[in-house]
This record gives sequence, structure tokens and C-alpha cells, in this order.
Amino acid sequence: MLKIVGLLLAWAASFSSTLDENSTYWQARELLLAQEQTTILGQEQILSSEEKLVNDILMNFKMSEMNTAFGDLNFIPAKNFLVAKMEMEASEVFQIIKLMPKGAALHLHDTAMATVSWIISDISYWENLYMCYTLQNQLLLKFMETPDSSCQWDLMSDVRASYPVPADFDMELLSRLSLITDKPDEAYPDINKVWSSFESTLIALTGMVMYRPAWEVYLYRALEEFKQDNILHVEFRGTLPRLYELNGTELTEEESMAVYETVSLRFLADNPCEYYGTRYIYAPLRRVDNATIWNYVTLAKQLKKRFPNYVAGFDLVGQEDLGLPLKDFLDPLLWLITGEDKVPVFYHAGETNWMGMNTDENLIDALLMNTSRIGHGYAIVKHPEAKALALSKDIPLEVCPISNQVLMLIKDLRNHPVAGLVSEGFPIVISADDPGTWGAVALSHDFYEAFMALGGAKADLRFLKQLAINSVKYSSLDKTASADLMQMWQAKWDEFIATVARKYNKNSKPVIPHVNATFEESNLVEENHM
Ligand SMILES: *[C@@H]1O[C@H](CO)[C@@H](O)[C@H](O)[C@H]1NC(C)=O
Ligand SMILES: *[C@@H]1O[C@H](CO)[C@@H](O)[C@H](O)[C@H]1NC(C)=O
Ligand SMILES: *[C@@H]1O[C@H](CO)[C@@H](O)[C@H](O)[C@H]1NC(C)=O
Ligand SMILES: *[C@@H]1O[C@H](CO)[C@@H](O)[C@H](O)[C@H]1NC(C)=O
Ligand SMILES: *[C@@H]1O[C@H](CO)[C@@H](O)[C@H](O)[C@H]1NC(C)=O
Ligand SMILES: [Zn+2]
Repeated sequence: MLKIVGLLLAWAASFSSTLDENSTYWQARELLLAQEQTTILGQEQILSSEEKLVNDILMNFKMSEMNTAFGDLNFIPAKNFLVAKMEMEASEVFQIIKLMPKGAALHLHDTAMATVSWIISDISYWENLYMCYTLQNQLLLKFMETPDSSCQWDLMSDVRASYPVPADFDMELLSRLSLITDKPDEAYPDINKVWSSFESTLIALTGMVMYRPAWEVYLYRALEEFKQDNILHVEFRGTLPRLYELNGTELTEEESMAVYETVSLRFLADNPCEYYGTRYIYAPLRRVDNATIWNYVTLAKQLKKRFPNYVAGFDLVGQEDLGLPLKDFLDPLLWLITGEDKVPVFYHAGETNWMGMNTDENLIDALLMNTSRIGHGYAIVKHPEAKALALSKDIPLEVCPISNQVLMLIKDLRNHPVAGLVSEGFPIVISADDPGTWGAVALSHDFYEAFMALGGAKADLRFLKQLAINSVKYSSLDKTASADLMQMWQAKWDEFIATVARKYNKNSKPVIPHVNATFEESNLVEENHM
């Protein structure tokens, strides 16, 4: 710092001299920029020569994409994912990210993990699936031997057959089970509208996939999608609705959890070299009273005891601004984290734009309750003390860029508060929250947004590598398991580097961020006049 001030003073003193590349001004400028580069997330990663080659290839694609967007203002992370998805998938940067082993996915929700179009083409065609609309126009789905009297049930197969074009029915179903639309601005005019549509998709999905045989197929498929996207370990949250049988029998929460674990272990046994493991964070709804929270935390302790390797911990979910703050449940939440049988917590907090309001303060409570990670948490940029505390306790944020965008918290991802945290090297992991809801698959789409928007033009392969390493480091696994997972990831990473180097096989040099829009435009104007 003093060095820069000194240089600036020297520069001021010699103001009359010509500013060649060795002038003190340019030296001060170089130094300042160089110092900024020492903090950006991933800067401590040292790349091998092969990684450098891959970095050049990647940065070439990235800079050509960014330079073009700088000119025509058509930048994918600035557009709603619901309309930008196809364009993203055509990007070479995206293609490389897809191949990349991304480590662990640490922030996901049960019913929104797998592709909705798959659920429709598969599970919604099973026998005995009934549907009905409530007076509030909420779609309900349920598998039943014989329909009960709780609603005006129709067999889905009958309703589908009544459509002149059955595919039209499936399109309608897609719009009821996901937020997918060509016109998000019209469909979701404000944050409360988009959240209520979102919660409505989850209610409909839950009724269908919590049918025990459907859940077994669904969870297996979800893990398969993550594996295909080169994810080795999954930690997902759920409200733990009780699974049910065709005859209406409901499993208890513990029996349901046992089914989850069995499916996850079967998936692992089928993919021992491509997958590491699955864990669950019990995360019921936050919009409830004290007595209900007491039930939750009691169950959380029971689950952790019975499934010590499968249940990672506890969280509370639901639109944060409309739910009750953590401090309203202090007694049960403190009880949860005390005693021999205490349970680790992974709170959603600071997923809000309302600085200084109750939900914003959830961050403080989450930190004081020794949360292992913070779900979203981007409001932390407005709390220097909380930020310093999180940093000193090495508590990362689980950042889900597309979720924040589609759920209308942040429109243009270049302005995501986490971009500032990235430049300071604050610990973060990238996850997908509810990829099925917006048509993303596993993590690649979110990694692309993080790379292009949260990291800015200068974030390179080291940033992506650090994100993957962070995801392993901040998983809920103990030291030994975490080291095993890291080793597995490292081997996949080396393969990935070799594959990309081979695939693109050229000694490309990275393009330097270069602004040419104004020149091009003025040239065009002149040409037109000739
Ligand atoms: C700047 O300094 C370098 C190293 O001393 C020298 O090689 C170069 O010629 C200098 N440039 C100018 C414009 O004086
Ligand atoms: C200038 O920007 C355009 C896009 O606006 C891009 O296609 C072109 O390659 C750029 N030219 C240079 C010299 O960077
Ligand atoms: C309901 O179905 C399940 C699974 O097929 C079976 O285990 C259970 O015994 C049945 N219960 C009744 C009351 O029929
Ligand atoms: C729960 O109980 C505490 C202590 O009695 C009280 O302060 C708090 O407001 C209650 N929370 C709710 C959601 O009723
Ligand atoms: C959080 O952890 C610290 C250090 O282990 C401990 O002293 C403190 O009591 C914990 N806080 C709560 C609320 O349990
Ligand atoms: Zn979430």
C-alpha cells in the first residue's frame, strides 16, 4: 500500500515528463492491477504446463465470447436463464465446463433435482396416477389403487387421452411442474408471483414422486444426471415428506429415509468408479410455529443417530422473506446444536435484497448457531462483521446463480454481489438449488454463469479448479472421506485436462481482453457514408 502511495507521489512530482511504459504512473498502475490479481478466487492454484495449455484454449473461447458480447450486448448471464439456455449450451466454454469434474453438489432440493421433461415422459405415464385441481387451481398428483375423496380425482391417462394431441397435455404438465417458459417476464411479473408458482410446482411434483416406487426411480435418475455432469458427490436437502404405497399406506419418516439411503447405496454400488456418495440435509419448511420446529429438531436428532453416514444435518427452507426468521425459534434451534447428539446445521440465510430486515439478520443467527455452510448468503456483503466472522471460521457460501436470477432476486448476474466476494477470494461453492425447475441439468449451467459473470473476464481455469476443490473441502464429509473424495476428483481432473488438451490440440495463446466496439462502430459509419 505504502509503495503505491510513494509511486503515485513520485508520479505527481514528475508530471511534466512524458509517460512512457517505464513512467512511475504506469508502474503504479501495473502494481495496483497486479495486487488485485493476488486475491481473486483461485489465484493460489499453480497450473501445470498441460493445464496452462487447456487454460489458453478455454480463455480463447471465453474472451471471444466476451468480446463479442461487449460489442453486441448479447451476454448470456445478463439474460434470464429460461430464455438463454439454448444459447449457453452452444457455447464452447459451456462444452468444456460440462466435461470438467466439478467435485460435489452441495445445495439442491429433493424434488427439483432431476429433469422435469424426463419425469413427464417416464413417471407421469405410469398406471394409477391421478390428478386434480383444487379450488385455488393447485394441481395435485397422486398414485392410488382407488381414488380417495379428498379431491375430484381423474386418471391422468384418461385426461391425456381426452386431448386431441396428447403432446399438448404434456406441454401443459411441463408448465405446471416447472417454471420453464419463453416469456418469463410476462409469466412472473414479481418475486412473490414467481415464488408462488415455484412452490406450486414443488407441491405437484411431491405428490407424484413421493410414491415409494416412483421415488426409487426418481432419486436414482437424479443421481445419474449428476454423475453424467461429472459430479462425484451430492448433498441434497429435503422436507422429508413421507413416502406412500399404492394402497395409501404411508411410511414413517425413518422408513422413508431408509429407502433414500438404500437407493443411494445401490446407485453407488452400480457406479463405484464414477461416483463417491450421497448425503441428505433434513430441511423442513420455515413458515411454521414453535411446536412444529420442536418436532423437526427432535426428528433431526433421531435421523442423525439412525443414519449417521447418510444424514448430514439440518436446515429450514421456503421463501426467506415470507418465512419466520431463525431467531423466532431460538430455543429449539439451540437445543439442536447442543449435547452429545448435536446435529450440524446448514442454514439458508441472507437470500434477500432487504438489507436490515429480519431475513437479512438470519445471517447473524446462522453464524452464531455455528452453521457449517450458508445457503445463498449473498447479503453478507452488507455485513462487514458477519463477513469477517464467516471468513475467520472458514464458513463458505453456497452460491446458486441461476436460482437467484430465475427466482427474481438478481437480474443481471454480472451484478451479483458474489462477484465482489470472488475478487476477494471469499470461500464459496457453486450449486444449482433446483435445476429441474428451470430446465438446467446438474451443475454445468451454474458453473458457466459463475465463470462468465461472477469471475469476470480475468477468472480462468484456476478459478474453476478452485470451485471444484472448494466443493470437496466444504462437503460435510469427515477428514478421511474428504481426502478420499479429493483423490478421486484429482484423478478425474487429470483425465479431463488430458482430454481437453487432446480434443482441441492446438497451441493457442489467450486473447487479451480487448475493447473494440467503438472503433468498429465508427468504422462502420464511415464506410456507410462512402
Ligand atoms: C523500459 O525499461 C526496460 C527495462 O529497463 C527497457 O528495456 C525498455 O527499453 C524501457 N522502455 C522505454 C520506452 O524506455
Ligand atoms: C471486435 O468485436 C467483434 C464483435 O463485435 C469481434 O467479432 C471481432 O473479432 C473483434 N475484433 C477484434 C480485432 O478484436
Ligand atoms: C400396502 O402395500 C404395501 C406395499 O405393497 C404392503 O407392504 C402393505 O402390506 C399394504 N398394506 C395394506 C394394509 O394392504
Ligand atoms: C417461539 O417461542 C419464543 C419464546 O417463547 C417466542 O419468543 C417466539 O416468538 C416464538 N416463535 C413463534 C414463531 O411463535
Ligand atoms: C459455536 O462453536 C463455538 C466453538 O466451538 C462454541 O464455543 C459455541 O458455544 C458454539 N455456539 C453455539 C450456539 O452452540
Ligand atoms: Zn435452496
